Amino acid sequence: MTGSGPVRFGVLVSGRGSNMVALLEAARNGFLPADPAIVISNVAEAPALDRALGFGVEARAVPHRGELSREAHEEKLIHLLGEREVEWVCLAGYMRRLSSRFVERFRWRILNIHPSLLPAFPGLDAQRQALDFGVRVSGCTVHLVDEGLDTGPIVAQRVVAVADDDTVESLSARILEQEHQLYPEAFRRLLTHPWRIEGRRVRFEGA
Ligand code: GRF
Repeated sequence: MTGSGPVRFGVLVSGRGSNMVALLEAARNGFLPADPAIVISNVAEAPALDRALGFGVEARAVPHRGELSREAHEEKLIHLLGEREVEWVCLAGYMRRLSSRFVERFRWRILNIHPSLLPAFPGLDAQRQALDFGVRVSGCTVHLVDEGLDTGPIVAQRVVAVADDDTVESLSARILEQEHQLYPEAFRRLLTHPWRIEGRRVRFEGA
């Protein structure tokens, strides 16, 4: 950790940013003891950017298109995040894999939220995968990010029952409701309780 004040976090987004809003709201109302320093989108038209500005948070588009490589794009992200003294990075619908260079730079300080009970249904269209498989429960997972696709140590999960008549839309909406609660809660827990990585898992002291 650097400096003294509250932890500074950045949010990476690509789209509508409803989980970002949940984090910014939690920071604003004091539930989350952290300051949002910057929101960065790889998609210039992402609605999340305007929503971040509405919170008075710096919002920057850093498009990946036109960059020579993933690494070249990420160097820009790393530079911006470093300039803003960001210690934690929250992925909130960020639709690009991170390179090992980025993961190493923020090792065990990158969080992601995924709309399934990992390790089931990683990757895209997790809610559709769950429905296609026929599971009776699904949910959402907050995890630390490692080099794999949705494979990092799990911090918290929330279960959502699957109804017989669920569609991708209806299931996604119920999971999303839980995501908005779980993400700030999981982040808060990491910031306020001692924890360590033990093997593959996040172990909270005294838990
Ligand atoms: C959420 O379902 C999240 O779990 C997944 O991408 C979606 C982003 O939605 N990683 P939003 O942009 O936060 O509204």
